Amino acid sequence: MNIFEQRKSIRKYKETEIPKEDLLKIIEAGRLAPSAKNRQPWRFVVLTGDKKEKVLEKMEKGINRSKKSIFMPKKFRNGMASAENTLRIMREAPVVVLVFNILSGNPYPPVFAGKRVSEIHNSLSIGAAIENMLLKATEMGIGSLWIGNTVYAHKEITSYLGTKDQLISAVTFGYPNEEPEGRPKKSIEEITQFL
Ligand SMILES: Cc1cc2nc3c(=O)[nH]c(=O)nc-3n(C[C@H](O)[C@H](O)[C@H](O)COP(=O)(O)O)c2cc1C
Repeated sequence: MNIFEQRKSIRKYKETEIPKEDLLKIIEAGRLAPSAKNRQPWRFVVLTGDKKEKVLEKMEKGINRSKKSIFMPKKFRNGMASAENTLRIMREAPVVVLVFNILSGNPYPPVFAGKRVSEIHNSLSIGAAIENMLLKATEMGIGSLWIGNTVYAHKEITSYLGTKDQLISAVTFGYPNEEPEGRPKKSIEEITQFL
């Protein structure tokens, strides 16, 4: 089985710590990713132990604030249970890597159309870096989960860390404690058009 088929989101982890040199190999895979105009807009913050717990407290606070917010559209309210489940997974994983976009700040204020293109490209580049890390981890027998639910606690986590950078995602890493069935994927015919 090739590495793309092997990789699956892992949501249950063993307590075993990941050696720092292995974490560095994973980050190195992210570092080598392609990026628009080679801007390399990413920054990774590796959290373990007490620091990880502290940041996850902030995440919990953000989720609770979002739950109560009158601005939260009804259709997103159902997503809050998923955010709470994600938080549980992050607590279990021995390592959480926060992924920042150093070329963007808070994503919520409206942005001008001209800025939009480079913002999209920067996000795509960071996605490439994250995917490289997931694949490298898979190759090393380390499980991972890409997490977008940090969106609910952008304010709490960035102000705790004293950064103006955009928190674009988090990724959990740990030795798998489950062997999930592969999630259904669309067929090649559904997603591809040969002209
Ligand atoms: C941008 C992005 C954000 C995601 N956010 C979350 C999340 O917050 N919580 C979670 O449990 N899974 C999250 N996932 C994982 C997806 O649910 C998962 O990749 C998808 O269901 C396909 O399963 P697979 O990764 O095993 O192929 C995210 C994936 C991506 C690419």
